[in-house]
Amino acid sequence: MKDEKIAKEIAFLKKENLYRKIKTVTSIKRNKILVDGKWLINFGSNDYLGLSHHKSIQQAIISAIRRTGVGAGASHLISGHHSSHESLEIKAAKYLGFDQSLYFSSGYLANLSFFGSLLKKEDAIFSDKLNHASLNDGAILSCAKFYRFKHLDLIHLEDLLKKSNEKNKIIVTDGVFSMDGDIADIRSLLSLCHQYDAHLFVDDAHGYGVLGSDGQGILEHTAMNKLLSKKDRDRIIYMFTLGKSVGVSGAILCAKKNIIDFLIQKGKPYIYTTATMPAIAEGISLSLDLIKDGKILREKLIKNIQIFRESIRKKNLLMNSITAIQPILIGSPEQTLYTSACLLDQGFYVPAIRPPTVPKNQSRLRVSLSANHSKNDVLGLTKAINRLTR
Ligand SMILES: Cc1ncc(COP(=O)(O)O)c(C=O)c1O
Repeated sequence: MKDEKIAKEIAFLKKENLYRKIKTVTSIKRNKILVDGKWLINFGSNDYLGLSHHKSIQQAIISAIRRTGVGAGASHLISGHHSSHESLEIKAAKYLGFDQSLYFSSGYLANLSFFGSLLKKEDAIFSDKLNHASLNDGAILSCAKFYRFKHLDLIHLEDLLKKSNEKNKIIVTDGVFSMDGDIADIRSLLSLCHQYDAHLFVDDAHGYGVLGSDGQGILEHTAMNKLLSKKDRDRIIYMFTLGKSVGVSGAILCAKKNIIDFLIQKGKPYIYTTATMPAIAEGISLSLDLIKDGKILREKLIKNIQIFRESIRKKNLLMNSITAIQPILIGSPEQTLYTSACLLDQGFYVPAIRPPTVPKNQSRLRVSLSANHSKNDVLGLTKAINRLTR
């Protein structure tokens, strides 16, 4: 790419208030981050249960490092697959009620691996318009026919399913939508899958840990796990990430045995990357147990969500979300940046989300709530937002 072309694009981003800047965090204490010498209450983290600083998880990783070292040394298929990875995969599949699971070093890689290997030119992907970028990139990598249905619009989806004549179909959805916080209607999507002989891919990056009485995500939330017949389960591919409520990093993809086997054979982003250090898998494994037993943390989070929604005065700024993601819709990138900067001055870090992450004219503050926040943190933030949006 030519220098002038880069400069022109950067200038355009700056002019439109779409230029992104990295914020460097120099220290973290529970719900606070130190940025540019100033402590801020952090409403920009996906650490919904506050597990990223859990002492037992840290201890599990530190003691595993002493046994297994700081690096896996190779990709999974060469010599990087350790018993720590294997035990984690077995535990995750059991907790989620699937045949098998596969551990990836990131959610982005999991999605690229699945779509890039299992879907082909002659297949069709039906994807919610607001799905995560990694699902869209996976679809592009697959070369499959890529249909996008209007957000949560099952009538539009069915219309597209009816018209398509591709043999293999897959419906793709976020469990909890990452910039809106609303949730997918898994029951209805699954019923369309049966009707049109399709599979269902659920990316539950923001649902696992938060939804369901045992924190097992959107499937448990919709009571599917209890009701899932083998026939239902065989149609679902369930992916959740490990860097949000789990507090560590990576992703797990759960599916039936033949799909996992195929991914191991053909999933290039899985095959050609160094395995994450085994000690991390041990920390994650403990975190999955803490999440299953984490009712108190979830109750704390739910209470914070309630306080937040009740104390925002202008209800039309809120979105339809029962989850930890509570966006405040502002509109223009300029006004959103300004509001975020004013909050920063008052000691609250709330990121401004702008296009292309969200549609034009829908820039917003993305407030992420956590079990780590106190009632006063939440009330302090809502008071500041109320003042700024009067
Ligand atoms: C819905 C969704 N899917 C996938 C990802 C990618 O996960 P990871 O950060 O582990 O690459 C993210 C997050 O960043 C996400 O929000």
